[in-house]
Amino acid sequence: MSRFVIANDMQAEVKAAFRERPHLVDGAPGFVHLDVLSPLDAPGEIWIMTYWTDAASYRAWHHSHMYRDAHKGIPKGLKLVPGEAKIREFEYVCG
Ligand code: HEM
Repeated sequence: MSRFVIANDMQAEVKAAFRERPHLVDGAPGFVHLDVLSPLDAPGEIWIMTYWTDAASYRAWHHSHMYRDAHKGIPKGLKLVPGEAKIREFEYVCG
């Protein structure tokens, strides 16, 4: 789970960038699925849930060129709330 909080008035641009995301991650080894969520009570928060076959695959992608290339479309001028960006790894228990 990766979460960040938009500090300026760019929610619409960030959500559009996710809808038009480059889909590079889809070909990464171990990638299963992703969901991009934004809480109804906090529309400036973006929660990205990526699902992987194993933690090592996620970590390899996160440190790869693919990760950097997948972020080239971050809207110019985007400002984040400092200290609010978080990454957390979860065990998938069941669906
Ligand atoms: C905290 C700063 C971050 C910001 C502002 C951000 C923003 C974005 C944006 C706007 C996109 C849409 C694609 C694009 O514009 O190029 C994107 C894609 C993505 N982000 Fe992030 N992101 C951040 C950190 C992370 C982290 C830490 C992860 C992983 C744990 C992550 C996972 C992803 C994934 C999986 C995609 C889709 C890539 C694809 O389609 O290939 N992001 N991000």
